[in-house]
Amino acid sequence: MSGCNMKLVSLFVGSLLMLSDPTAPKCITEDGLNKLIEEFQTRYLDKKVSVNVPDTRTCMQAAEEMQGAENNRSVSPWRYRLDEDVNRIPSKIAFAECICQGCIIDKRENMSYNSRSVDAWLRIYRKTGKCSENKYKVRKDFIKVPVGCTCVVPNYTK
Ligand SMILES: *[C@@H]1O[C@H](CO)[C@@H](O)[C@H](O)[C@H]1NC(C)=O
Ligand SMILES: *[C@@H]1O[C@H](CO)[C@@H](O)[C@H](O)[C@H]1NC(C)=O
Repeated sequence: MSGCNMKLVSLFVGSLLMLSDPTAPKCITEDGLNKLIEEFQTRYLDKKVSVNVPDTRTCMQAAEEMQGAENNRSVSPWRYRLDEDVNRIPSKIAFAECICQGCIIDKRENMSYNSRSVDAWLRIYRKTGKCSENKYKVRKDFIKVPVGCTCVVPNYTK
């Protein structure tokens, strides 16, 4: 009898594990899909981040300005670029890009230091097709998103 219980327990745990597989595709209705899109878009595209006008500043220009938000005042300043993928939820994500190779020390670029992007793992969904006429297949995924830049000393080889 206890052996039978054990089997039940392991079956139960097994099905829990299957349910919690984060990358298993699931089928959702169009309503569900739209809700997901709405929820993710407002959560991840910061309205303060302006990506409509491409930021083409050079490091020298950034060094002269050094004002405004943190991305402009950082010694390793960065710009935002809109990354778009229609099969991803959210489809639009602002990716940070370092403006300088070096870092801005005393109002000029100093190549003794390096600007490096800092990444964060972001939970997204991928649209992978249809399950039926009016159901969509989505799969949870994680992607690395550059969210800013930091200043590091070069990794000199000894
Ligand atoms: C950063 O600087 C650029 C160029 O001056 C400006 O267009 C942009 O609005 C600034 N961004 C922020 C968030 O301060
Ligand atoms: C860059 O920084 C280093 C270390 O702080 C300093 O010795 C050097 O003079 C700087 N170079 C320039 C071009 O400012």
